[in-house]
Amino acid sequence: MKRLVVVSNRVAEPGCSHAAGGLAVCILDALRKRGGVWFGWNGEIVPDDAEIDVSRVKFDELTLATMPLTERDYRDYYLGFANAALWPVHHYRLDLARFTQEAIDGYRRVNDRFAEKLAPMLMSNDLVWVHDYHFIPLGAALRERGVANRIGFFLHIPFPPPDVLCAMPEHEWLMSALVEYDLVGFQTKTDQANFLRFMCDFMQGEMLTPDLVRVGGKTVTASVFPVGIDVDSFSAMAESPSAAERIQRLHRAGEPRINVIGVDRLDYTKGLPDRLRSFKRLLEIYPQNCKAVTLMQIAPPTREDVQAYADIRHELEALSGEINGQFGDFDWTPVRYLHRRVDRDTLAALYRGSQVGLVTPLRDGMNLVAKEYVVAQDAENPGVLVLSRFAGAAEELQEALIVNPYDADEVANAMQKAIVMPLGERKERHAALLARVRKHDSYNWMDGFLRALSACRLPLAA
Ligand code: ADP
Ligand code: F6P
Repeated sequence: MKRLVVVSNRVAEPGCSHAAGGLAVCILDALRKRGGVWFGWNGEIVPDDAEIDVSRVKFDELTLATMPLTERDYRDYYLGFANAALWPVHHYRLDLARFTQEAIDGYRRVNDRFAEKLAPMLMSNDLVWVHDYHFIPLGAALRERGVANRIGFFLHIPFPPPDVLCAMPEHEWLMSALVEYDLVGFQTKTDQANFLRFMCDFMQGEMLTPDLVRVGGKTVTASVFPVGIDVDSFSAMAESPSAAERIQRLHRAGEPRINVIGVDRLDYTKGLPDRLRSFKRLLEIYPQNCKAVTLMQIAPPTREDVQAYADIRHELEALSGEINGQFGDFDWTPVRYLHRRVDRDTLAALYRGSQVGLVTPLRDGMNLVAKEYVVAQDAENPGVLVLSRFAGAAEELQEALIVNPYDADEVANAMQKAIVMPLGERKERHAALLARVRKHDSYNWMDGFLRALSACRLPLAA
């Protein structure tokens, strides 16, 4: 078996019990089984003049090779371009995108530095797999340094329609870098179609097969590989005796009688204010839920140095205070909001102890929380998933109650439907959803991608 070298901005150590972020969770799940090298940022920020070295730590078959970012890199590459330009553009939020020359330069600089450090570590047979929007030009930077290995790229976030993407300065440079990969993977058919449309309409690409496009003398395969989770290990966590104890404690706390759960990084793409407004509508339209239903929203901090993230936090805190003030009582808090990370086994227990899983992003690449909620349920008495049509997961998880997250009444009605849904229907929907989540688990995701990458022609022979 060929050695696998995975590259991503965020790297998580095995045993890390609270990696908030879908990318770290699914790569760790998949790499734990296969082994290989995981190369990326170690999460540290060092002074601009510090010496940057790669450090290596081995965990059985998995080696983590990581390095720090400088303060300037963190500001320009991570906050500036990745999270204040690419992230909003890819989530269809041009209104929040900020473009500066320093940020674009920083993004180029960091991609070049990672390529510079990685190229000498590679062996000629390695499969190289680059992840996410932080490293779109990394493949091209490796090619410039003579790397002829098969290199694949997977985008964890949505690929926007061409008309949105082309509002971004330097989009042509960025997109032409994608053609340097042998295989580019997406979460959904919509993302794949947007990419191919961009290549054909904006870059004079020519389709050779339904997923092979030729652009400027290069060919690249674009396919769909929906990410998943490690189903067996997550369901084992949810079924453990300690989970049962936690669930009992949750219910013994006196409230709630019915728990609705939301778990998301505190990101504006997750639609949290809209979700709270929907919950408020639930209490207004169906007042019988007062004192009976609680929304537990766990939203750990993320990217707080970007202004839009600070804004969303204030909005959410004001809204939950407003709902609790208006509807709460001495013995009932309608919204329980926790602004922190939680261990994965606690999360599994909370999902299992909640009758409704509320996953309502305004736009999301996949959304692993939706899959975790399904896997954590007791098959004999499962809860109901309410899922945004704008999450990548909605393409697969059709037996969820699919909603438009912008429509507060529609979401409130779906919550009510979930609360009163008969056991037979809950079991039927859950069994179908679980089968789908199993089909696209983390291992199949990795296996499917690597098989497709191995089947691509070697770039030098193309
Ligand atoms: P994203 O990649 O945008 O963060 P996903 O839903 O795909 O969204 O993945 C989020 C991952 O982070 C899930 O595995 C989820 O369990 C985890 N997560 C989210 N919130 C927390 C939290 N408060 N504590 C620990 N893990 C969290
Ligand atoms: O899955 C989307 C994603 O942006 C990952 O790329 C990232 O690791 C995760 O969410 C969490 O964000 P961050 O790495 O910026 O903390």
